[in-house]
Amino acid sequence: MDHRCKLLHLFLYFLLSASFFMHTHSSEDYNRQPPRPLILTWHHGTDSDPQQVHISMVGKDHMKISWVTSHEHVKSMVEYGKRSGKYEASATGEHTSYQYFLYRSGKIHHVTIGPLDAKTTYYYRCGGSGQEFKLRTPPSTFPIEFAIAGDLGQTEWTASTLAHIGSKDYDVLLLPGDLSYADTQQPLWDSFGRLVEPYASQRPWMVTQGNHEVESFPVIFPHGFKAYNSRWQMPYQQSGSKSNLYYSFDVAGAHIIMLGSYTDFDASSDQYTWLKADLEKVDKSRTPWTIVLIHAPWYNSNSAHKGEGESMRLSMEEMLYNAGVDIVYAGHVHAYERFTRVYDNKADQCGPVHVTIGDGGNREGLAMMFEKPSPRISVYREPSFGHGRLKIFNETHAHWSWQRNNDSNSFAADEVWLSSLSYSSACCKNSSFKCTPLTTQKDEL
Ligand SMILES: [Fe+2]
Repeated sequence: MDHRCKLLHLFLYFLLSASFFMHTHSSEDYNRQPPRPLILTWHHGTDSDPQQVHISMVGKDHMKISWVTSHEHVKSMVEYGKRSGKYEASATGEHTSYQYFLYRSGKIHHVTIGPLDAKTTYYYRCGGSGQEFKLRTPPSTFPIEFAIAGDLGQTEWTASTLAHIGSKDYDVLLLPGDLSYADTQQPLWDSFGRLVEPYASQRPWMVTQGNHEVESFPVIFPHGFKAYNSRWQMPYQQSGSKSNLYYSFDVAGAHIIMLGSYTDFDASSDQYTWLKADLEKVDKSRTPWTIVLIHAPWYNSNSAHKGEGESMRLSMEEMLYNAGVDIVYAGHVHAYERFTRVYDNKADQCGPVHVTIGDGGNREGLAMMFEKPSPRISVYREPSFGHGRLKIFNETHAHWSWQRNNDSNSFAADEVWLSSLSYSSACCKNSSFKCTPLTTQKDEL
């Protein structure tokens, strides 16, 4: 390399370094985490041993147990009870499998067990043999704690986020889309199922779809979601939905609505009609907290995916506002951002708090570029991996925190107390939902 060439390389190095420095240290003094390698998780048991075990809530007192076996003859049957090794009940269910080009999935079992007591540990065994698992059902009343993580993937950062989630107790995990990042490489769905099993077999994982779940292909798989709908069956029928891509459920005193950013949402769509009917059925005296999950954020000051949630916002935001939705969680943008209560792009004490929590740890890395200056409605934003915690203490108060992944600890980098809109004196005046005025939202704004 001659002298001029060396100088040119040196100049380019400084240019790139300066650019990286500007992006990573633009607003915070924290060193943002670079991407980490993919983790592939293998099955070490026999062909009939259960793998990829995960659970999801079905109605107020049932739980769906889902797992995969390589062996075709394993029964879709779950034995369960309150003492280890003593199974006083059993249930049978159904199974499915799917073909995606040359890949053929294992036998995917789905068995619903119950009725189960609330906030109770149950021991269970899948298919009549193999390892015993245990789960804990959610409480039927407050308090309840949700762990929330989007855009997980399966990297070393994912493992770090999961370890942080598992290091502190919680009741239900909510995932606003983008699970495995298989992106048509179907064995990665199996690997993801194995990676999350230690967590998803113990607490219900309630998920909705992101763009990485679509996996459509012209003519052959025009509607997409082949793997997602086969593996991650959510309780959509119980809420009157016709599609696994959007549904709602009640837990303790919260009504949770999981919307689909990648299926139709305009005023003539099934999802829109279903959402309207679902919101009309919400009884705030029974479920004072209403929480919505989407994938593409409606509010976003990051340059990544800017505007991608706008058409859905235009279609559905007014409905959520009129129904007194308290919080909207989104993923998709690989960073954390919390907005104040907002409606139609303006701060509004009767609108939901919007939170982007798409920083679970996937292979694509962080979305480093936030707009400058920060919009006034954006309260806190940071491109770091992490997860969130929503602890609802009672009908009126909840605590939200964002737990940034440090190397060994999770650290609450952002936190706020929230008051439910169903007890807000300011928002009860003209609300179309049942209201009991008690508090104001001044402490949040
Ligand atoms: Fe996404």
